[in-house]
Formats: sequence, structure tokens, C-alpha cells
Amino acid sequence: MAGNLIVSKPLRIGVAGLGTVGGGVLRLLRENADVIARRAGRRVEVHAVSARDRNRKRPVPIDDLEWYDDPVAMAESADIDVVVELIGGSDGVAKALVEAALDRGIGVVTANKALIAIHGHALAERAEAHDAPLAFEAAVAGAIPIIKAMREGLSANRFSAVTAILNGTCNYILTQMRETGQSFASVLEEAQKLGYAEADPSFDVDGIDAAHKLAILASIAFGRVIDFPSVHIEGIRQVTAEDIVYAAELGYRIKLLAIARDGGEAGIEQRVHPCMVPADAPIAHVEGVFNAVVTETDGADRTMIEGRGAGEGPTASAVIADIVDIARGRFSPVFGVPCADLEPFRPARMQDHRGPYYMRCTVSDRPGVIADIAAVLSTYDISIESFLQRGRSNNDDAPVPVVIVTHETQEAAIVEAVRRIDALASVREATHLIRIETFAR
Ligand code: HSE
Repeated sequence: MAGNLIVSKPLRIGVAGLGTVGGGVLRLLRENADVIARRAGRRVEVHAVSARDRNRKRPVPIDDLEWYDDPVAMAESADIDVVVELIGGSDGVAKALVEAALDRGIGVVTANKALIAIHGHALAERAEAHDAPLAFEAAVAGAIPIIKAMREGLSANRFSAVTAILNGTCNYILTQMRETGQSFASVLEEAQKLGYAEADPSFDVDGIDAAHKLAILASIAFGRVIDFPSVHIEGIRQVTAEDIVYAAELGYRIKLLAIARDGGEAGIEQRVHPCMVPADAPIAHVEGVFNAVVTETDGADRTMIEGRGAGEGPTASAVIADIVDIARGRFSPVFGVPCADLEPFRPARMQDHRGPYYMRCTVSDRPGVIADIAAVLSTYDISIESFLQRGRSNNDDAPVPVVIVTHETQEAAIVEAVRRIDALASVREATHLIRIETFAR
């Protein structure tokens, strides 16, 4: 075997983007060169790199590598067998680079979820047309090999649902809020200082990053053309420390979940939003920067994989696994079946979503207020499962919280009921509404 490795031609890699992940790929390829070569059946050699600033100090030396100012030119070089795209962004140079490499028929490995979520179908068609592998394990849930697990490992099954924590920044913030009682804003500020959150955190905290990843998983799970625009997206900015305390009292934890569920005739739900999950559900215990994906399928039943969703080593691990697959000539259709066999995506309407809800109303502490709220809920046929009111204000005018958990109801009904409740004279602030996600045993 060792002899074969020496005589086989090395696989020559061109890495575009030398940030945290790019540096991690170079470092891990170097540190684990022996095991990687054995698994790949040949040496994996970084031949060229491209990044914004040639003179920046790097943790791994790059002096002996070919340098390209233009990553597209690198992809067009005959000396490169596989392009690793770690630039990011759904358009611009990242897309041009991937297209150039696929057009040459060479392999592409990318960690770019936005690119795959938005242009994945067109890129998959391009990859098929040129018989080129397009691999993106690192785009979803970092180190967790979820693309491979769902596309190959669970290929015998029909999927009914995928429920996941796909954004480490949000999970870290929600965990810290629960553990310290601090507000969203102060935990975010701290996370930014520690480097756990970006200076512009909106892609993460507004749920967009998780939605990109969910759209990719949903396409693979249900064999549908990827449909990012139909994902219902809400982030975590509105989650308060108070809601987290009430969640705990009621036996729940608040998580930003990404959920894709086959609703049959109603279509496929794709939604990213804060959820209350039962505190004894395994996913409730996925804390800090960790990610997890739960799949529900007919044959395999429920599976859950947890791991680090970001960072140098975890993301490099996923990138290199894709490189090893390409070295071995292992590659599936991008979304599990050839593009022509993917069915159109039929999205479910969010207003048809059914489930229990948590409501926190802020009301004047006066007789009759609860009756008024209950009357509105009853008008919309919404039944109350539990009800909580703590403390009394010292003066009649100070607002008090009233927390209600409903039985299963329809999104359209609860949204309309809350609009009516918020219009009551005794309701002092906008009601907080959080969906509750139950997990069948
Ligand atoms: N920013 C992402 C997260 C990791 O916080 O999980 C990269 O997608």
C-alpha cells in the first residue's frame, strides 16, 4: 500500500480563501498527511492558494505554494485537480470560481452554504453536465457528516422530518442567556468580544445562516429542487431572558430550530425560528456552540448526530473528507438524485402550521383582564393547556406578565387572536409568541 501511495500521482488542490477555515485545511492536511493519504489512496498536495492579501502573516507557511491573485485563474490552471472554495458569499467571485472549475470538469469542495442554498440547483446541473464532483459537507453543521449521513447513510428511507440546531452562534447566545440570566444584547456583545459572533451578526442571529443550511438538508431529505426562498425565517433577537425563565418553569428550553417536515398534501414545511422544546428532549441538551441534526425516517426511525458546527478544525475536517471522497472517485448526485429526477418543491403555508404555542401577555393587573384574553382565545377555538401568573404589582397601573400555553392550534388562528388581544385596553405591550415543538416518543 505504501508503495502504491508513492507511485500514484498526488491529488493537487487549489485553496481559495485563507481565513480560519482555509488555514485549518492547510494545517490538517499537513498534520494528518499520512492518514489522509492512506484513506485517499494517494497523497493530497496543496499546490496553489488564492486569498485577498498575499502578505498577511499566516499560521501555516505558504511560500512554497503557487499564488494566485485571481481565484478563477487558479481554477482554470491545468495543474489543479480539485478547487476548495472557502471565500463565501452566494455570488461574486465564489460563484465564478466554482463555475469555472465545474466547467473544466474538475472537483469542487465548498463550505459555502449561501452559494449552495441559492444557486445549488444550477450548480448541480453544471456539475452533472461536466461529470464533475461538487461536494459541500462543510456547508452544513461543520464537523457533523450530515450530508453523507442523510444522502448515503439513510438512502433506504423515506424522510418525514429533519429537526436541527444549525447555528452555533445562536445556540451559544441562548445557552448563555439561560445560564446567566443576561439579555440578548449583552450576551451578543460578550460573544462578539470572544470572537464567537461576527461584528455584523445578522446572518447568524436573524436565522439566515440556519435557513441556508436547512434548505440544503430539505432538498436531500425529500428529493426536491432546493427552495431557499420558501423557508420561513425568524431569528432570536426577540427572545428575552424573561421568556427563558418561563420556559424553564414550564419544562422547556428555548432553541433556534431549523425544521423541515413533510406535510403530505399540505406540502413541505421549512421553518427556522425560536422554539420551546421539552427540557427532557435530547436536542434540548445540545448547548453552546454545538449543532445537532435529528432525522425521522420510516426505516431507521429517529437518529441524532451532534458535533461542532463551526471553527477551524471541525470545518477543515469536513472539507478534507470531501477531498478524500474525490480522490477515491466516490461521488453521488449533488442532492442525492440526478437533477432531472428531483421533484419540484411544494412549500407548505406557514399560516397552516399546527402546534401548541407559548404566549406571554403584559397586562394591567385589574379584574377581568384574564377573562378578556380567554374570551378572544375561545373565539378562535384556541384551548388553554396551562396558565401562569406570578406576583402582584404594588400599584394598579404597573403591568404584570400572564403566561399561557395553548393546546395545538393553527398559526393563522393564534396570530389573529394575538392581534385582537394586543388591541385590548388592558394589554400594555406586544404579546410574545413562541411555537412549542413536541417530540413524539
Ligand atoms: N456562523 C455559523 C454558526 C457557522 O454560528 O454556526 C458557519 O456557518
